[in-house]
Amino acid sequence: MKRVPTSFFPPISLDFATRTPMYRQLYDWFRDAIVSGQLSPGQRVPSTRALAAELEISRLPVLSAFEQLHAEGYLQTQVGSGTMVSPSVPDEATRPTTPACKVPLRQESPRKISRLAAAALSVQPQQWLNSLGAFRASLPAVDHFPIRIWSKLVARHSSSPPKELMAYGDPMGYLPFREAIAEYLGAARAVRCSPAQVMIVNGSQQGLQICAKVLFDPGDPIWMEEPGYPGAHQAFTTAGVRMVPIPGDDQGISVKEGLRRCRLAKGAYLTPSHQYPLGTTMSAARRLEILQWTVRARAWIIEDDYDGEFRFDSRPIGALQGLDTDSNVVYVGTFSKVLFPALRLGYIVVPKDMVAAFAAVREAADLFSSTLYQAVLTDFIREGHFARHLRRMRVLYMERRSLLVDALRAQLGNMLEVIGAEAGMHLVALLPPGVDDREAARRAAQNGISVLPLSMCYLKKPERGGLILGYGGTNASEVQEGIKRLKLSLRGMSRQQ
Ligand SMILES: Cc1ncc(COP(=O)(O)O)c(C=O)c1O
Repeated sequence: MKRVPTSFFPPISLDFATRTPMYRQLYDWFRDAIVSGQLSPGQRVPSTRALAAELEISRLPVLSAFEQLHAEGYLQTQVGSGTMVSPSVPDEATRPTTPACKVPLRQESPRKISRLAAAALSVQPQQWLNSLGAFRASLPAVDHFPIRIWSKLVARHSSSPPKELMAYGDPMGYLPFREAIAEYLGAARAVRCSPAQVMIVNGSQQGLQICAKVLFDPGDPIWMEEPGYPGAHQAFTTAGVRMVPIPGDDQGISVKEGLRRCRLAKGAYLTPSHQYPLGTTMSAARRLEILQWTVRARAWIIEDDYDGEFRFDSRPIGALQGLDTDSNVVYVGTFSKVLFPALRLGYIVVPKDMVAAFAAVREAADLFSSTLYQAVLTDFIREGHFARHLRRMRVLYMERRSLLVDALRAQLGNMLEVIGAEAGMHLVALLPPGVDDREAARRAAQNGISVLPLSMCYLKKPERGGLILGYGGTNASEVQEGIKRLKLSLRGMSRQQ
């Protein structure tokens, strides 16, 4: 027999002192709740038996109230699914007489929000960029994720979890997971750390926010790569950090330009392994130069190593953190690209003397990350599935990248200039000077294509626009079809300058 899902108990309080009969009080409560929209059409209500037991009254008044509500069309009972608010309560009956909370409707007088919230709103990416069409940046090949293995591991950890998996956890994260990550980072990314320095976070976005809060005071200036990662713009903006845009060259961010524009910067946000979005790899000489600057200026580097695992024409390049002998680099990594973004798991490698401060700020924010997936991912790494998946994805992304580069050159070579395709899961296609990249991306979105305008990565107005094309989550046929549609979207644009 089908089980009727249990419904929530409504917060009814009966007045036993009044002369209003019990059934009337119950009838009034349900009617008001339905009319005001507090209970919505189709929503289940408790059975008369359960309600009487909960209210510690006889079942008779409940039966009478429900009978009346049925008769007037407010409630309806269906065999097998219990009693519910009638899906066809007349509209005029449900029009709220007194809204639960008044919201000012007039746009001219928006209510005051904090300065930081207003700043966050101003850098928020626009909604039309969020679709999942071809070339969606930051999307890995989720259809190649070993979901069977994953679901077995989830079942293993969720079928009879020990107390520690269900109770409150450590703000630094689940220790076996931190041990596995420390080993992986040492072996694969040349990061030098002990598990005690690894903090698990809900993706690098949270990692960047925690770094900003721990390392800087509101108003402190930092060097920001220009162009740079919009997620970092958001994180630093909401922490009140002042970002000074510093351009780079083919060796990475320019320290000279940084010193010229902001000598007293307290730190720098960098993507040395694969600059986001342009794809440059920071040279060895520039790495040493910027590390020396951190010592002289007593400044921090936040190293965002978001996709350093994927490098195609040479071996992956080690992290900047591994070269830092003065503990001035805070390293941030994520599982969003190497596994999938909805997992929301990342990590920070914190200098030893800063661990207590990081843990305190993290605890104040959201205590700790969900322990179940940390345990699942620990086994995924320990049993070799992670290394195998990485190896497979490296080959797959290399193929997808070649396909995309070839298709771009063949179909759009006279309009777009491809840069930064040596690593990662995205490349940049520069548009001819003067072409508006937001308009180009908007037109592409209308044709089901998800490209990002390069200009959204700039704090200042860029000299030249471009499109960021992700290829990790776009298969061969989608690449071919996607380029055709992109070509159609861009038709006539280079002549509009
Ligand atoms: C530069 C950079 N950092 C980090 C991330 C990943 O962020 P998260 O771990 O919050 O998903 C991305 C994803 O697009 C990125 O491009």
